This record gives sequence, C-alpha cells and structure tokens, in this order.
Amino acid sequence: MENKDRMMDQLIKELTESRNRITELENFEIENKLIEKNLKMINKCLQGFCEDPLKNINQLTCLCGELMGATCALYNRIDKGMLYSWGQWHTPGDYCPVDKPEGHICYDVIKNKCDDIMVIRNLSDSIYAKTDPNVIFYKLKTYVGQAVKFNNTSIGSLCVVYQKDFIPNNSEKKIFGIISAAIGVEENSRQGQEDLKETLEKLRKALGGVIEAMSLTIELRDPYTAGHQKRVSDLARMIAKEMGLSKEKIEAIRMAGAIHDIGKISVPSEILSKPGKLNDLEMLMIKTHPKIGFDILKPIEFPWSVADIILQHHERLDGSGYPLGLKGEHIVLEAKILGVADVVEAMSSHRPYRPGHGIGEALEEISKNKGILYEPTVVDICWRLFTSKKFKFEKK
Ligand SMILES: [Fe+2]
Repeated sequence: MENKDRMMDQLIKELTESRNRITELENFEIENKLIEKNLKMINKCLQGFCEDPLKNINQLTCLCGELMGATCALYNRIDKGMLYSWGQWHTPGDYCPVDKPEGHICYDVIKNKCDDIMVIRNLSDSIYAKTDPNVIFYKLKTYVGQAVKFNNTSIGSLCVVYQKDFIPNNSEKKIFGIISAAIGVEENSRQGQEDLKETLEKLRKALGGVIEAMSLTIELRDPYTAGHQKRVSDLARMIAKEMGLSKEKIEAIRMAGAIHDIGKISVPSEILSKPGKLNDLEMLMIKTHPKIGFDILKPIEFPWSVADIILQHHERLDGSGYPLGLKGEHIVLEAKILGVADVVEAMSSHRPYRPGHGIGEALEEISKNKGILYEPTVVDICWRLFTSKKFKFEKK
C-alpha cells in the first residue's frame, strides 16, 4: 500500500512538472509572437524612413511609446549644453522640449552611459521628484530609459514614462533595446550629414574667396571697369531668380558674373584703359577674353559649368557674337542672361572713351535687339526688374 502511495505521489509530481513546463512553453510562444509582431512594426517603421535622420528618430520614438503602452515617449540629447527633446510622442501641449540638463533623469542616463535599461518606479518618492520638474508636474510614476550610443559614446537617451506603476517584461525590454540601437544608427548618419554640410560650407566660403580674389585681380588692371563684374553678377542673378531657375543655376550665374572678364588678364592694360576708339588689332585682342577666361577656369572643378557660361557670354542669338559665333539654342541660357546683364551694365556706366549712356538707353538697346541678339524672355525680365521692380545697380 505504501508503495502504491509513493508511486501515486511521484506521478502527481511528474504531472505537475509537465503542466508547468507546458505553461512555460505556452508563455514563451506568446512572448515570441508578441516580439514577432513588434519586430514587424519596427521593420515597417524602418522601411518608411526618409533622408532626414531627425524625422526618423522621431518616428522611432513614437513607435517606442506605442509599443511600450506608455503615457509619453522622449528621445533627448545634449546640444550646446542644453537637454533637447528631439523625439517626442504624446507629450502634453505645455511640455518644454529644452531645459538645463542637471537634475533630469535622462541626463543621468546619458552621463552614466546606461547600457542596461533603467527602470525607476515610485518616482514621486525618488530623488528625481525634487530635481526633475516633469516628475511632479505631470504626476509621473514610472521611468524606463536607456542610453543611446554610437561609436561607444553615449549621446542621448530614449525613455518612456508612465502615470502608473509599470514593470517592463523581457519582450518589452528587447523591443526597447532594438529601438534605442536604431536611434543610435540614425544619430550616426545625422552626424555624418552635419559633417558633410560643414565641409561643403567651408569649401563654398573658400571658393567665394578665390572668386573675389580673381575678380579683384582683373579690376586692379582695369580700374575703369572696377565694380563692373560685381554689378553684372548682381543683375544676372536677379534675372535668373525672376526666371525661376534652380538654386544651383542661380549660383552658377552669380559666380560666372563675378569673374566673367577674367580673360582680360591677358590683354595689355594700355588697351583696356585706352581713352580713344580701339583699332582692329586691339579689338581682336579684347575679343580673345572669353576664350582665355574659359582656358583659365576649365581646369578648376567648379560644381557648375562656370567656364562654359564665361566662354559664351559674348555670343548672340543671330550668330554675330564671339568667340564661336554660336546661334540661338546652341548658347546656354545662363550665358544669355549674363550677356544681357553685361550689356546693360556696360552701356549705363562711364568708360574712358565715352560717358555713361544711362539705364534708359541701355534698356532701349536690349529691347531694340530683342529676339535678334538677346533672348526675348531675358530682355523682358530685365526690363521688368528696372521698371516695376525698381532694381538699381549698387553705387560705384
Ligand atoms: Fe566680357
């Protein structure tokens, strides 16, 4: 009988263990299904990423708040000594996204480079009730956060907060960790984009300096045209802007305008400043300047076709221009704009061999030859700039 009882006890024990094992497996399966479902949502979020890492970071923060069933979700980072909430989900309308970092839980998470997910329950009884203004103001009870890193540096923190007691389970911790790592990747590409922007800005400034130096070089040799290139550049840029050309084309025109006579560097200064009429040979020498300018600029890798615009700025629609005698559509639009601006500025200004004709006469000239020498749309817009838009050349 005793033996029978023992066998019965053993059987019950094994049965209980099996049941426990089955419950464990069932829970494991439920957890896996939840992780799978959440991973699909993360995947969908990643597929919807745009080129702006900040927008992507915000998307990830929103997804984190949603999947964690939080009251609010935030992604905070330190910028110029302040704590900024770059990513926000369900934050109240009066929430202040910028603050001094000291005392904020998120700042401590960043500072302590928390690898593990930090969970703080009973926030109102914690030290943060005194140091972090959001705890009491928004009646927060639980904080769950983790440091966001790239290159092993802690640069921000992802957190979800609750107005109730909350303990994240394993699957929630895994999801939180994945989203936090994804934000780290986006931070990395944001940094890359900013470095690139900074480098490009430096290059643009350096290029601007080179252009200015080139412009001054030619104007030093030809003081009568001092300021001419700058004024031509201003007018050509305004025409291009009014025509609705792309930012890149406007910049190319501005730059080409500022140095369009660089080729005159090879023309003797006595010819450039000769008070009387030029003879045929002197005229021929002057006419070499677009080609010389092209040859000077061709080896320089400008981001735009500056050399071609300069080569063609004396070409005219009917083929009567120089140096190639190009006609109509064979002349690039940027050169047609620069050509009109050049003529208007040159005619309205004083020269050693003649007084200035004034802007009225200059506009008459381009109008008379509209469609013959000059592109009609460019002429119309130039007219409009000086009449209804009150454009004025900068004083010399
Ligand atoms: Fe010229």
